[in-house]
Amino acid sequence: MRIKTFIGILAAGAALLLAVAAPAQTIKIGVINTYSGPFATLGDLIDKGFKLYMKQNADKLPPGVKIELVIRDDGGPNPDKAKQLLQELIVRDRIQFLTGVVFTPNALAMAPLTQEAKLPFFIMNAGTSVITERSPYIARFSFTLWQSSYPLGAWASRKYKRAYIAVSDFAPGHDSEAGFERGFTEGGGRIVGKVRIPLANPDFVPFMQRVKDAKPEVLMAFTPAGRQATQIMKAYGDLGLDKAGIKFIGPGDITTDEELPNMGDAPLGVITMHHYSAAATRPANKAFIAAWKKEYGEKSVPSFMSVGGWDAMDAIYYAIREQKGKIDPDRTMALVKKYKNPNSPRGPIAIDPETRDIIQNEYIREVKRVGGQLANVEFETISMVKDPWKEYQKK
Ligand code: PHB
Repeated sequence: MRIKTFIGILAAGAALLLAVAAPAQTIKIGVINTYSGPFATLGDLIDKGFKLYMKQNADKLPPGVKIELVIRDDGGPNPDKAKQLLQELIVRDRIQFLTGVVFTPNALAMAPLTQEAKLPFFIMNAGTSVITERSPYIARFSFTLWQSSYPLGAWASRKYKRAYIAVSDFAPGHDSEAGFERGFTEGGGRIVGKVRIPLANPDFVPFMQRVKDAKPEVLMAFTPAGRQATQIMKAYGDLGLDKAGIKFIGPGDITTDEELPNMGDAPLGVITMHHYSAAATRPANKAFIAAWKKEYGEKSVPSFMSVGGWDAMDAIYYAIREQKGKIDPDRTMALVKKYKNPNSPRGPIAIDPETRDIIQNEYIREVKRVGGQLANVEFETISMVKDPWKEYQKK
């Protein structure tokens, strides 16, 4: 007995020595995100999303594995800057994962580097369909504009015959326009006018006047979430398009949850298609909202971008866990193709193994007043939508 105990103590001591001597393994995750400039609120919402995930799931990493975040600010849609930042992260910091990225032009500029460096890039936002085709090391945890705009077009074609399209003049805007037009015209609707609005410092008033003069039944618009969503909503209300009987619809970017409190009454009745609403009553979302408010304050509201940050970080943790902390880029990409989460705050999600793009529910929502505050209230679900643009490419 005594000898056994003695041996047991020796073994425990040796294990302890080994554990102390073995260097803790540190995995470096590069984050390129928008923390300054007119779109800084978007980067902040993503940042809060993935950091909340990390805080809540610290115990889900293998023992001895630590994460070091290397965070850089791209300042908005600046592809040259984003590319330069990534070069430094690859060469100097030797990151093992890349994540973040609000803007499509930045993601497109970085894509070739992720292929050369074999660097897994888990996108938290940028939503233009083609991005994932630009490098085999990209997987997307956000959405595509086609994923919302195409089914929105189909839905709208059952209610309206004449639509006007207004989008921000950059890649995700062009995707939103094309997706909506396809869905709407396939369903028998007609596009009576289209306009593309500059991305930098737009004045929405003259564009809204043009829409009003064209007298469509419905206006479908896309701008980036954040302040521009509030600006276009205000222009719609101020010019009286609602009173002129022109219904306002779009992907959920135009009624993004965090901006609803800044929009006045203009968005009441606006219909959007999207994958996430902070007002959703799924248990996983209720838990997410409660954790968010505890961490960031009762008044703080997460957006779809925060959930993109949360889910992409969950996939990074999964890849680290499955490899027990020894990261190989090709193994990471093989694993991510099998990634599924039945319980994201947005509902069930999966990565399409063929395209590395996200499959998720799209919800039709109406802006209503709930408990004194505006909310995106989901009223219909389209189950597990794959990026329709990629489905069309296959045909
Ligand atoms: C994008 O650049 O892909 C993008 C930016 C803001 C959005 C949606 C997409 O709200």
